Amino acid sequence: MTKPTLYFTLFLFISLLTSCDSGNSEGSETPSSDSVETQIADLHSYSNVFEVRTEHLHLDLNVDFETQTLKGSVNHEIENLSGASKAVFDVYDLNIEKVLLNGEEETTFEIGDQDELLGAPLEVAINENTESVQIFYETAPSAGALQWLNPQQTAGKKNPYLFTQGQAILTRTWIPCQDTPGNRITYSADIKVPSNLLAVMSADNPTEKNSEGKYSFEMNNPIPSYLIALAVGDLEFSSLGERTGVYCEPSMTEACVYEFVDVEKMVEAAEQLYGDYKWGRYDLIVLPPSFPFGGMENPKLTFATPTILAGDRSLVSLVAHELAHSWSGNLVTNATWDDFWLNEGFTVYFENRIMEQVYGKEYADMLMQIEYQGLEYENDDILSGDYPEDTQLKLDLEGRNPDDGMTAIAYVKGAFFLKTLEELAGRETFDSFLSNYFNDHEFQTLTTEKFVAYLEANLLEPNDLEFNTNDWIYEEGIPDNCVQINSDRFEKVDLKCEMITSVSSGAELEIPEDWSTHEWLHFIRHIPADADASHLTILDKEFGFTDCGNSEIMAEWYVLSIMLDYDGINESMETFLINVGRRKFLEPIYGELAKSEDGMKLAHKIYAQARPNYHSISYLTIDEILGWES
Ligand code: BES
Ligand code: ZN
Repeated sequence: MTKPTLYFTLFLFISLLTSCDSGNSEGSETPSSDSVETQIADLHSYSNVFEVRTEHLHLDLNVDFETQTLKGSVNHEIENLSGASKAVFDVYDLNIEKVLLNGEEETTFEIGDQDELLGAPLEVAINENTESVQIFYETAPSAGALQWLNPQQTAGKKNPYLFTQGQAILTRTWIPCQDTPGNRITYSADIKVPSNLLAVMSADNPTEKNSEGKYSFEMNNPIPSYLIALAVGDLEFSSLGERTGVYCEPSMTEACVYEFVDVEKMVEAAEQLYGDYKWGRYDLIVLPPSFPFGGMENPKLTFATPTILAGDRSLVSLVAHELAHSWSGNLVTNATWDDFWLNEGFTVYFENRIMEQVYGKEYADMLMQIEYQGLEYENDDILSGDYPEDTQLKLDLEGRNPDDGMTAIAYVKGAFFLKTLEELAGRETFDSFLSNYFNDHEFQTLTTEKFVAYLEANLLEPNDLEFNTNDWIYEEGIPDNCVQINSDRFEKVDLKCEMITSVSSGAELEIPEDWSTHEWLHFIRHIPADADASHLTILDKEFGFTDCGNSEIMAEWYVLSIMLDYDGINESMETFLINVGRRKFLEPIYGELAKSEDGMKLAHKIYAQARPNYHSISYLTIDEILGWES
């Protein structure tokens, strides 16, 4: 990777302006230059936010499904902090037509060399009187953030669909912007779409289509660029509660309303835990199955995969997770992608507290233990690979894709760090610490170092507590003092697992009627090491895992089946892989197939058909696993 040195020297300088430390609650005002005390360069952005920063941006875009492009302009209202003569934005494969200053005066611009990972700097000449920079542009059909779906890839099969995915560094593929979480902006937008479709954004949203296909949006809370999001499709809105609702294609409405019945309760639980919900409404949009993630916490409008519609509400912890991001991530944001655990670790901890509040401790403990199993597995895996230092909470992703930080370390080690602290401090003390943490840093970004100082000053020192914070954050692996969770229900599952290889029919196991998805997952994960395909045949006959309709169970069952050469899954797995584009499921399944020659052959055959259905985030990962040349 080539490194444009000017913007790539890590520099840390203390602002000489105002020192305004934690304890300062800024409300929903856009932070100004002097609210940033320690300025840390983000190695994944070319922008010069410490000299010139966008305060507000306005998008004016036409969505063209024919050419698969967005065309129009973005107007940046800027603050020139240092009297700089240029403003630098991030762009990736954008066709820039012209740039106007203050709405009228055309100015010169230059696009630097394109880096495969980061895109390129767009340098615009400005002066001390520049208040706005309007960039006229068009996206490329291959834009990484955008997925253009043809009607066949939707539930209704009649209309096309578009959605964006900005996190971590893909917003620059559809908006020329300062694409760093280190700066927060408000935004507004005018979006024009075909008149039979509805557009929604991470903003105040319409609930009905209009005949002109013109929609206006506003996000009045300052957010990082990765949270700007758009979806366009044949969408219908249904209310779930006073300030909650769901958007989806009409044929899915009934299923969505059923599955998400508890969302309003979750918002209430979250508020009871850590303070007011600051974003007004909390809605969800259930996207087509190619959405590469489980969920994405776009403010006011969580984007979610339809694979959480299990029909029995058993996978709604994902909603609790994305909702929790309304505090951890969206209110208090990681300053750089090296601090990603501040977003996700806090969110997994918070998610679990919401689940405990709404569904009880026994249930929440099972969820957390399932997560812990994943952590142990991934921790070992990373420790034996090329980057064992990725098992530290604080990462060093210089020159690497920030998505590499999306492991169970940030999520689950991060959450267990907080759980261990909770155990030490006591729940009441810890909860009031966390409430203050969110309050004191709302609408701000935070580095790991700042968090550590805040923890020391506000929890450890005042309560006279000793804690090995540095081991957790700057050392590899899982520290010895990590809290243990025990689940009586899982212990009962273990007893059933021990019987698997000695029964001749599944009925002999006498599985209780009321097992939850998580007990079944634990069961599948603990099938004895000496089991073989014949045992899987017996289990599948009795419990029907292969076609059970619960995506979490199916995905784990497929991996195990491939491992043990049980081919009863083949047809269903193929259908699953062709339809579902969620990377978390695809990666282990293709990964397991790729381990044998026959498996690799099958994987290539399926992938040829499935790949066009995947978002770039997913197919780039799978291309690598399968050695696929496109
Ligand atoms: N913010 C993440 C998704 C993300 C992370 C996208 C990094 C791009 C880069 C989201 O909140 C998330 O964590 N989603 C999880 C679900 C969750 C229940 C663990 C997912 O998609 O699997
Ligand atoms: Zn998350």
